[in-house]
Amino acid sequence: MTAVDADRLHDLSMNETPYPPLPALRQVVAEGAALLNRYPDRLAGALTAGLARHLGVAPEAVLVGPGSAGLLQHLVQSFGPAPEVVHAALSFEGYPLIVANAGAKSVPVPVDGYRHDLRAMADAVTDATRCVLICNPNNPTGSALGRAELAEFLGRVPADVPVVVDEAYRHFVTDPDFPDALDLRRDHPNVCVVRTFSKAYGLAALRVGYAVLPPDRVMAARMTGMMFFPNSLGQAAALRALDPDVTEELSRRCADVAEQRARLVAGLRDAGHTAPDSEANFVWLPLGEDSAAFTADAKAAGILVACLDGRGVRVTVGTAEANDRFLAFARSRR
Ligand SMILES: Cc1ncc(COP(=O)(O)O)c(C=O)c1O
Repeated sequence: MTAVDADRLHDLSMNETPYPPLPALRQVVAEGAALLNRYPDRLAGALTAGLARHLGVAPEAVLVGPGSAGLLQHLVQSFGPAPEVVHAALSFEGYPLIVANAGAKSVPVPVDGYRHDLRAMADAVTDATRCVLICNPNNPTGSALGRAELAEFLGRVPADVPVVVDEAYRHFVTDPDFPDALDLRRDHPNVCVVRTFSKAYGLAALRVGYAVLPPDRVMAARMTGMMFFPNSLGQAAALRALDPDVTEELSRRCADVAEQRARLVAGLRDAGHTAPDSEANFVWLPLGEDSAAFTADAKAAGILVACLDGRGVRVTVGTAEANDRFLAFARSRR
């Protein structure tokens, strides 16, 4: 979106943070410009070490990559050669493309209401399964899986099948029963955790994500990944983002997002819409056949939302002003 569009439109379609980048991170990026003639550290050594310290895991278990989408594709590729990848549907719309690009075949398992159907997903795992993708909280429905149900599911998946838990939206969760997938690795070493600096950290344009996985899988993935990713600006900004002064400010911002989310959900329900609980920085409206028309009308009202044709509309939590404008539109649409 250009600056001119930004004046006219509220873009609530991409699950981005509505806040501008923190000054400390902008400064790191500005300073990095002086070294653009140099290649980035191919192994992202400083960021890998910083993440290992921050997370309390071994550096050998950390793999940094070009955003979590790029990293997911890289992992699915490196987990070959079994042909199938099990994931939920509805879930992140990028999964089918990521799986196809990695030379595998999607096995989509329908959600149960707004949630992963973990029983059906465990039943879908066979000898042909390369890995399982779990999106927690789930994009686009916003639902989160609890600790016990995820642990029970892991108990049903063979120990040699990697289960990738995509925690892109974990910082926005307020439910105390939300599991930290890093903890689940203790009992289930096949758990691979994927996270991103794009959402809560507000660095989407820099393309930095990371995974925590068994060290032998890190080694295998390093043999297949793209070279020189992420770039040096992304590595430096992500490392700075782990410092306590930045993480404190980001936590405050995430708490604001959670407050605004509660206001959006309550306002939508007041207006007569169905809006399931969300633990992410977006809300889901299961509008079915009305989704495309709703999206077009929202655009005419100056608000961009994400349309999943025939299923629903996903609305990112924006600034208070953007949310007010969206709520006014949603009220007019009942
Ligand atoms: C569930 C989920 N995973 C991964 C991504 C990819 O994010 P990025 O590549 O910016 O880290 C997204 C982006 O919207 C997402 O919703």
